[in-house]
Amino acid sequence: MVETIVWKDNQVVMIDQRKLPLQEKYIICKDYRSVIRAIKNLVIRGAPAIGVAAAMGVALGALKIRTSNKERFRAKLDAICRDIVQARPTAANLAWAVERMKQVADQASRRGVKGVKSRLVKEAQKMLDEDIAINRRMGRYGQRLLRNGSRVLTHCNAGALATGGYGTALGVVRAAVKAGKRIEVFADETRPFLQGARLTAWEMKELNIPVTVITDNSAGYFMQQGRVDAVIVGADRIAENGDVANKIGTYMVAVLAKTHKIPFYVAAPLSTIDASIKSGKEIPIEQRGEKEVTRFLGRQATPNGVPAENPAFDVTPHRYISAIITEKGVITPPFKAKIRRLFASG
Ligand code: MRU
Repeated sequence: MVETIVWKDNQVVMIDQRKLPLQEKYIICKDYRSVIRAIKNLVIRGAPAIGVAAAMGVALGALKIRTSNKERFRAKLDAICRDIVQARPTAANLAWAVERMKQVADQASRRGVKGVKSRLVKEAQKMLDEDIAINRRMGRYGQRLLRNGSRVLTHCNAGALATGGYGTALGVVRAAVKAGKRIEVFADETRPFLQGARLTAWEMKELNIPVTVITDNSAGYFMQQGRVDAVIVGADRIAENGDVANKIGTYMVAVLAKTHKIPFYVAAPLSTIDASIKSGKEIPIEQRGEKEVTRFLGRQATPNGVPAENPAFDVTPHRYISAIITEKGVITPPFKAKIRRLFASG
């Protein structure tokens, strides 16, 4: 499996997810502004991967600050952090990662500007390694929810490409396969960016895990036919009450799953949980450009002058969610007190 993002020779290298699966191209970011562009343009996407990219962006930005004056350095670093946080609004991991980098800068401040820079570079790389380890742990907990022979439907891409590596929802699938279970995946194509058709399908194929791509509007059909045993998705932000923001269309799948009595699982690290917000109503939903909808595979697909709306995420209310899989274990409803406990347990 390719690496989603790496820190190499004081540059950030990312696989260009807009080009997969037809081309494996890499983008080299030499400054923090190019990291911001890569996040905005979906070169790198998926909440945990965005978090790692943001941390590396902060480190890149710090390296380029040319002053040895501590106060001036800090003011510039804070300005860089403010820019990076605004790259995309919904994924909680973005602000979480930037905040962690700021805290590291605070703790290292007595080492002087040079010392802070080297600590930030180390921290960003540590966050990448930690993310992979967290996904593996989540996989081990989550795979217990899948039976041998399970047919799992997933929406968007919550695999290695959406994270530092291994994946959240697809990490659970991988762990189940590793535990000796036979698992088949249905990948919703996930219009308009086709994260399912292009990225989930590609990852599963690389791993030799059987995968079938279906159109977004056919999930209900397959459930009605009794061909789906479980749904697993990732998350961009989870509120304190367990409401989950994830790729647009997730809500539709969750409602269908409940109607068909199919368990609906969300796999996400604690860095995706925003315990500062009480419910999904407070989650900002990114609205992307209409061209992503009006054009398809590089061509216009709608009549001239007809507007399109393109919300990138929706919120699935907690009552539709059977369990949330985290690196500290699996929690079932009611979520609120359990989420609080996850954070309290250190
Ligand atoms: O717009 P994207 O591709 O960044 O949206 C990604 C998703 O919705 C993923 O499901 C989510 O970030 C979880 S990734 C482990």
